[in-house]
Amino acid sequence: MYEGKRVLTGIKPTGTPHLGNLVGAIRPVIAMSHEAAESYVFIADLHALNTVRDSSLIEQWSKEIAATFLALGLNIDKTVFFRQSDVPEVYQLSTLLMNVTSKGLMNRAHAYKAAVDQNIVNGNDPDAGINMGLYTYPILMAADILLYQTDVVPVGQDQKQHVEMARDIAISFNHIYGQGILTVPEVVIQEAASAIPGFDGRKMSKSYDNYIPIFADPNTLRQLVMKIVTDSKRPEDPKDPNESAIFQLYQSFATEEEIDVMRRGFLEGGLGYKEAKIMLFEVINRTLKEAREKYNALISRPGDIDEILMAGARKARLVACITLDKVSKAMLGRSVVYR
Ligand code: TRP
Repeated sequence: MYEGKRVLTGIKPTGTPHLGNLVGAIRPVIAMSHEAAESYVFIADLHALNTVRDSSLIEQWSKEIAATFLALGLNIDKTVFFRQSDVPEVYQLSTLLMNVTSKGLMNRAHAYKAAVDQNIVNGNDPDAGINMGLYTYPILMAADILLYQTDVVPVGQDQKQHVEMARDIAISFNHIYGQGILTVPEVVIQEAASAIPGFDGRKMSKSYDNYIPIFADPNTLRQLVMKIVTDSKRPEDPKDPNESAIFQLYQSFATEEEIDVMRRGFLEGGLGYKEAKIMLFEVINRTLKEAREKYNALISRPGDIDEILMAGARKARLVACITLDKVSKAMLGRSVVYR
């Protein structure tokens, strides 16, 4: 899918990475980093600013995300891995792109519209509490994508509209200033193999506070797995595996044979929830053990993480400056690349 393509994706640092993120986003991005000719993966800390007001949290979550990707085997030979805010050209491009972006386009963005609708429901001013970071979010995201002349952007369904807006902005820019200056990106939807459940049975999510951190220590991991809600069926009763959060999680970590054993144990009866939870804990722990050691080593040396990200930013800027040079010459008649 990614052969010969330059792919790019960003991860917003708004929480400690959990198993839902691992299955839905982190694993696909790591797979992409091995498949694609060239990939750009960055921590979208500027995008987190419209909701996260505590700088120490932005910093902590950014480091956790960086260490998580590195520990789980992001291919850094072929991947430019960096922090969004370390590439000043993105702020510059964003300002320039404002002028080829219609306000109406921003008015149609789902996230902005949802915030307005919520205000209206609550009887508040439609724009109450909405900052320009939220309103212009799609422009900054377009700058992220267009700065690196990205061919393909793999994202979850919720980000599809944003990538389409980046396309619209690129097309509008090229129409005014010259065809081919900006690459018009394609979106690829990462099929999240159905959202994985948290320990309360709902979708695993930071906002439900039902999540299992990827690198929880084994004791915490065991406790969280044992907390998974179940119904009152006894061990000998037959159970529908597809209704069990235990089985759904198990499928993301166990081998085919192991999955089969649990499926049959549930269907035929004889496998109790407690025993199944122990099986689940063991496969998660086994899968993440080695990466957890790497993660713990990395997270205890934050300076090393910074160095890796800064080296990535230096590489990213080489490409960013070429695009900014072209764009600023087209718009202003001179280059605004400062190095
Ligand atoms: N908005 C994305 C999210 O919330 C993160 C992101 C920022 C991104 N810039 C990007 C994703 C560019 C893909 C490409 O998940």
